[in-house]
Amino acid sequence: MLPPKVSLFEVGPRDGLQNETSVSTQAKIALIEALADAGVKRIEAASFVSPKWVPQMADSGEVLRGISRRAGVCYSALTPNLKGLELALAAGADEVAVFAAASEGFSQKNINCSIEESIARFEPLLSRAKEQGIRVRGYVSCVLGCPYDGEIAPAEVARVADILHQLGCYEISLGDTIGVGTPLKARKMVETVAERVPVERLALHFHDTYGQALANILACLETGVSVIDTSVAGLGGCPYAKGASGNLASEDLVYMLHGMGIDTGIDLNKLAQAGRQISQQLGRQTGSKVARALGA
Ligand code: HMG
Ligand code: MG
Repeated sequence: MLPPKVSLFEVGPRDGLQNETSVSTQAKIALIEALADAGVKRIEAASFVSPKWVPQMADSGEVLRGISRRAGVCYSALTPNLKGLELALAAGADEVAVFAAASEGFSQKNINCSIEESIARFEPLLSRAKEQGIRVRGYVSCVLGCPYDGEIAPAEVARVADILHQLGCYEISLGDTIGVGTPLKARKMVETVAERVPVERLALHFHDTYGQALANILACLETGVSVIDTSVAGLGGCPYAKGASGNLASEDLVYMLHGMGIDTGIDLNKLAQAGRQISQQLGRQTGSKVARALGA
C-alpha cells in the first residue's frame, strides 16, 4: 500500500551545493528561505566537515546564522565528528546528521577511516547531542553500489543501519550515492534493512546518476517508507564519488506524488521557482524536468 503522505527532506543546500564552488553565502541563504517559503519543512542547510576537505561548505556557520527562520521548519546540518557537532550547535542547527557507509572503500575515501572507526567517532557525538536535546539522523552511503568496492550486499547495509539506529539515530537515510540502483534491487535492499530497523525510521536518499531514482523510489514506497531526501533542481553530487550526479530533483518527486494523490504540503510552483533561481546563479538550466516543463 502507498503512504497517504510523504515527507520530503530537502538536501539541495547541502548535498547540492557541496559540489559547487561559485555560490555566495547570500545565495545559499536565499535558497533556504525560498525552500521554506514553498512549504518544505525539513532542510539540510549546512555541513560542518573539514574545510580542507570540502571548502565549499566552509561558510556553513554564516549560512545557519543568516537565515530568517520560519516556524515549524527544521534546519539540519551534517556533522562527521564531535568538532562538527560543536560548530553546528554554536550556529543553531535544529538537528544534525552523521554519515557512515556500507562499504569500506567509500568510508576511507569520504571520511578517512574504516566503518568501525566511524561508528566509534559517532558514539561521543550522539551522547553529546542527547545531552543537548538535539536529534541525530544517520546516513548509510553506497547502499546499492560503491564506486570503489562495487556491489554491496543488502545484509551489509542492514548491519550498518542497525548499528546507527541502536546508537540512537532517530532516522536512517539509505543513500544510493552513485545512483546505480534499479527498482527491484532497491526494494529488496529496503526490505532487508526493514527486518532490522522499523520501516517508519527509514528514509531514501537516491542520487539520479543513471536516471533511475524516481522509479526506485516508487518501487520502495510500497514497503511503507514515507520520508524521501531530494534536491531542488537536482543539484549536486558527492565530491568523493566522482561522476555521481545530484539527488532526484525535489520538483520531480513532488509532481509524481501529487499526481498520485499523495500529499507533501509543498507548493510545486514555488519550489520550481526556488530551483530555477539557484540554477540561474549557477549559470545553468534547472536539472528538474518538471521545473523546465512548468517554466516553458
Ligand atoms: P581527517 O583529516 O582524518 O581528520 O578528516 P582529523 O581529525 O585528522 O582533522 C584534520 C583537520 O581537520 C584538523 O585541522 C581538524 O581540526 C579539522 P588542522 O589541525 O589540520 O588544522 N577538522 C574539522 N574542521 C572543521 N569541522 C570539522 C572538522 N573535523 C576535523 N568537523 C574528516 C576526517 C571526517 C573531518 C574529513 O574526512 C571530512 O571532513 N570529510 C567530509 C567529507 C564530506 O563532506 N563528504 C561529503 C558529504 S557525505 C555525502 O555527500 C554522502 C551523503 O549525501 C549520503 C549519500 O549520498 O550516500 C550524506
Ligand atoms: Mg548524497
